[in-house]
Parts: sequence; C-alpha cells; structure tokens
Amino acid sequence: MADAVGNKAAKDYHFDVPAPDQGFFARGLGHTDWGMKNRISRLFSPETGNTVMLAFDHGYIMGSTAGLERLDVTIAPLCEYADVLMGTRGAIRSCIPPTTKKAICLRATHDSSVLFEDMSLGSGLAMDMEDALRMNAAALAIQCFVGGAGERDSLEALCRAADAGYRYGVPVLGVTAVGKEMARTTQYFLLATRILAELGASAVKTYYCEDFEKVAASCPVPIVIAGGKKLPEAEALEMAWRAMSEGARGVDMGRNIFQSEHPAAMCQAVAAVVHRGFDAKRAYEYYLELANA
Ligand code: 5RP
Repeated sequence: MADAVGNKAAKDYHFDVPAPDQGFFARGLGHTDWGMKNRISRLFSPETGNTVMLAFDHGYIMGSTAGLERLDVTIAPLCEYADVLMGTRGAIRSCIPPTTKKAICLRATHDSSVLFEDMSLGSGLAMDMEDALRMNAAALAIQCFVGGAGERDSLEALCRAADAGYRYGVPVLGVTAVGKEMARTTQYFLLATRILAELGASAVKTYYCEDFEKVAASCPVPIVIAGGKKLPEAEALEMAWRAMSEGARGVDMGRNIFQSEHPAAMCQAVAAVVHRGFDAKRAYEYYLELANA
C-alpha cells in the first residue's frame, strides 16, 4: 500500500551524481522517438539545454489581464526574445503571425474561470491532438491540480494527452497548479512535479520554492518555473537565477515579463540568465541598460 506521507522519508537526492546520459541533451528523454526529440529540441535549446517560454495564456481563465488586453500589440513584438510561445489556440491563431519561427506550446486544458472559487473543478482537455498538429505545436501544456478537488480529472487529462503525445511525437508540459487551499511548500512541489513526470509529462512547469534543488533533482525530466505574480524586476531576475542555479532548465514566465515597465528589456534579461549564465545582479544591470537605451 502506498504511503501518503512517503515523501517525508525522502532525503537522499544524490546531488553529486549526474542524471544518466541517454545520448540526448534533455534529461530523461533519450529513449523517446525522433519526432518527440525534434520537438523537444525546439522547446529547449540543444546548445544550453535551457528555455525561455513566454506565457500569455492567462486569458483562458482571467479574461483580459493587465498587459494582455491586446495580444497583437503587447505580445507579438516580444516573441523574438523568447524561445517558446505559450498560449491558447485562440490567442495564437488570432494574434501571433503564423510566420513565427518560435516553438508553440499550446495551453490544451480548460479550467473554471476566476469567477469560481475552485478552478480545478472545471478542468479538462480543451483541444485534441489533431488541432495541435494542425497548429504545428511543439508541445501541449496540461494543467494539473494535485491535491485539489479536480485532481482526478486533471490527471486523466494529462494521461490522455501523454498517450496522444507519444503516438504523434508531441511532448506534454505538465503544469503544477496550486489551488488556493494548498501551501506552496517544498513537500507539495516534490509530490506534484514527480507525479506529473511519472504519468507521462516530458517536461514539468512548477513554481520556485525553498529547497528547489530537491524538487529539480527528483524530477526525472526537465523542469521550468513560472514567474507568478509581478515582482520588482530585480527580484524576478533573482528568482530566475536561483532556479537556474538549483537545477531548473528554464522559465515559463508571463506577468513578470509582460507586466514589466519594459517587457522587451525584461525578456532579454531573463534570457541572459537562462542562456548566457548572467547572475541576478548582472542581469538587472543589463535590464536597466536595455530599458534606458
Ligand atoms: C497558469 C500558467 C501560466 O501560464 C503561468 O502561471 C505563467 O505565468 P506567470 O509567470 O504570470 O505566473 O500556466 O497555470
């Protein structure tokens, strides 16, 4: 019988032992098919192993969000600074030029809108693989509510998306959604990220937390962090730098980029942390330099 508190005993993360080399740059994905590897190589840079995903999918539950009132005006010009564009099919079809060379990560689940107390109760698949392929998607993002009332439905959606993804070579990004009733603890993220990877996610999106290196170490596939609510730019860059230093392979950041006073400068500063090894201080100086140019 599985132990619901099994993670309490988990303590040996083997920080000194590198993940096994499977002959492919992305962790844990060396045994997947060519098409899957090709798409993973569009999501994560084969040179650095890292990614800057620009998330602008907030409207799918929040409607017109600050900074996203006009996606064609605010997001389209930022695309050149990101590696991956993460949005809904409606946003991408209507506002992102199809000439873009950027990888598309489609938000492929629906949830309850912000008008409901518990968004997990409205979770389910929002599109099928046929439409994702029609849009030349490099990945599907599936939101999961581990520990929430909608856990079962959201994990079912993840499993079905992973099945279709393996059939057609499309990776699934498992997104850990933290319900209002759940604390953002290391223990919670250890549990949620690992469940998503074990159920078939090829990459996992989570939040930065205390002891993040344990979360990253025990997730067998690449892990990226969301930005969360808008922070001052220096703090957001510090969080990105800490996450990268502790094992993240990138960010999937929204509000801390598009709600910045200088979104293009912020996106480039984040990319400097992710791909060029800038520390937080240098990245903030870079942000200021670009913002004041
Ligand atoms: C919500 C999401 C959002 O895309 C994600 O939260 C990223 O945006 P932000 O950096 O603004 O938090 O996946 O589940």
